Amino acid sequence: MSEHNAVDEDGRTLVSAAGEPEERALEAALRPKNLDDFVGQKRVRRQLSLVLEASRMRSSSADHVLLSGPPGLGKTTLAMIIAAEMNAPLRISSGPAIQHAGDLAAILSSLTEGEVLFLDEIHRMSRPAEEMLYMAMEDFRVDIVVGKGAGATAIPLELPPFTLVGATTRAGLLPGPLRDRFGFTGHLEFYSVEELELVLRRSAGLLDLKLSSAGFSEIASRSRGTPRIANRLLRRVRDWALVHGLDRIEASSASAALEMYEIDARGLDRLDRSVLQALIGKFNGGPVGLSTLAIAVGEEMETVETVAEPFLVREGLLGRTPRGRIAMPAAWQHLGVPMPEGMSVVDMPALFDTLEEPSEEAESGQDWFTGR
Ligand SMILES: Nc1ncnc2c1ncn2[C@@H]1O[C@H](COP(=O)(O)OP(=O)(O)OP(=O)(O)O)[C@@H](O)[C@H]1O
Ligand SMILES: [Mg+2]
Repeated sequence: MSEHNAVDEDGRTLVSAAGEPEERALEAALRPKNLDDFVGQKRVRRQLSLVLEASRMRSSSADHVLLSGPPGLGKTTLAMIIAAEMNAPLRISSGPAIQHAGDLAAILSSLTEGEVLFLDEIHRMSRPAEEMLYMAMEDFRVDIVVGKGAGATAIPLELPPFTLVGATTRAGLLPGPLRDRFGFTGHLEFYSVEELELVLRRSAGLLDLKLSSAGFSEIASRSRGTPRIANRLLRRVRDWALVHGLDRIEASSASAALEMYEIDARGLDRLDRSVLQALIGKFNGGPVGLSTLAIAVGEEMETVETVAEPFLVREGLLGRTPRGRIAMPAAWQHLGVPMPEGMSVVDMPALFDTLEEPSEEAESGQDWFTGR
């Protein structure tokens, strides 16, 4: 891990939206257990509650559900809630764990009636497994192939009705036939500061922490719209309060704590800021190629592209153009550096207009964050 990142005691980037394995136990304690406890995502929650209610009234298993959205917004949490609300057992697996159709057949054939099967990162499943899943989802049946070559025979196997809950951070990568087989798709969106405050209030209650209202909003506004990050920052503020012997956390303590971890008022960490500082200080706002920018901040290209850029682009601080990265006007403003004479805001869209085809970078990039 580089010195440029704000890292906590486990060597993790504090503001990364990805959930690290060590974090899972901590997350489990803070996970809402039912729909009423699940904060925000009003639309998805309402739609989902209707789907579940109707299937309870029909006494049948719920329709298959696809949950899509960026990391840390509550997909796994919702999958668990679906099972709990349906009073059904939950089986958890993930796309990368299912490399052969046989792996999936083993899971499917051991499901019990009404069971909820949660497949995380469903877009990473292998093609043969995916095809087996089509039939299982639609007809509750799979063909188990026995033998090889000309002598191979397919033995049909009936499955009990089950509910598949798929989660993906890259809905765009999901093949159409698979997407179409879900009866309901919920798109999770970034949370507002107010919603994150509610998440934090709930977590603080569970952790037995006392914060002022301004304390909550201080943390919420630095949490990048992501409950996972909000909960993580809350734990760091808790440490700070413990060491400083505070039993009530005011906004000033919350901000002092997060400043110490180099998370600024907008939720940028040190890497984010050094990318903007390099763009502005060394390249006069760009455009500059990703590799040059990465060298300037002493990081791997991949780190800059996947760790820092998605959030900077989403915040309108950095732009990706075919000629390279540029600092957006908001970046100058955020760093408190005046934009040079002669450089006007109107010039910037022109850079984007030169875009003929999406660059490879943009294509392989984080469609969810950039909205591309
Ligand atoms: N709506 C919410 N209300 C309260 N807490 C939430 C909510 N959504 C998420 N959280 C908290 O954020 C943490 C991360 O959520 P979760 O693991 O469900 O995210 P995810 O979408 O599955 O992320 P990933 O894509 O990385 O798997 C959980 O521990 C949970 O406590
Ligand atoms: Mg998850």
